[in-house]
Amino acid sequence: MRRKKNLTTDVDAILARVTPKTKIVFVANPNNPTGTYVPGSEIRRLRAGLREDIVLVCDDAYAEYVDAPDYESGFSLAAETENTIALRTFSKIYGLASVRLGWGFASSNIVGVLERLRPPFNVSRPAQVAGLAALADKDHVARTKAHTKKWREVCLQRLRGLGLNVADSHGNFLLPEFPKTPGKTAAECDAFLQERGVIIRRVDAYGLSNYLRVTIGDEEEMTIFLDAMTAFMERK
Ligand SMILES: Cc1ncc(COP(=O)(O)O)c(C=O)c1O
Repeated sequence: MRRKKNLTTDVDAILARVTPKTKIVFVANPNNPTGTYVPGSEIRRLRAGLREDIVLVCDDAYAEYVDAPDYESGFSLAAETENTIALRTFSKIYGLASVRLGWGFASSNIVGVLERLRPPFNVSRPAQVAGLAALADKDHVARTKAHTKKWREVCLQRLRGLGLNVADSHGNFLLPEFPKTPGKTAAECDAFLQERGVIIRRVDAYGLSNYLRVTIGDEEEMTIFLDAMTAFMERK
């Protein structure tokens, strides 16, 4: 169950939706596709407000990109409680999405259940080797983080300069909000960009039909994207 206010996870709204049937609560922090995060104190307040038999899953797929001092990945809560799972992936900052590798950290009770449920050989040996090499490659993580931070900021300022609302993001993407004015909508922008070979993400399925999500790419990609955005916003 995921509820949001101002594009940000709303702990009170989640707690209000818990029923006797609730077994598990997932929170992506930072969240996709909004890029917003909640501080560790909010995740702890959520855990404290949930019954002990409800498992809290902290999906920290974008944790490596976060600098906010009050951010806390789910690890400490997973270490301190029996009923919290922290998840990480190699699909984001490590750039290994096609390897289909991720990992989790939880109490031995939860891990024991997952071990009994998971299919055999669910992580291939090449994926394990790639994951270990990726963990050792700290330069890659530092470089990617610095690049993402730089271009996320450049992109944020350029998009705001074009008159778009864009929330600060703590992930590797931005979520500009488009006006409802004919000629300037998110759907029209998406079509305009696609005609120029730029494919970003419609987020209608999240109830965000006047937004588009753009992932931070390399310098050439970001330059092409920003030039196309400028052409779209400035066209008559
Ligand atoms: C919040 C969040 N969790 C998990 C994933 C996917 O991770 P994986 O590729 O390991 O399934 C994504 C990818 O889009 C994501 O945004």
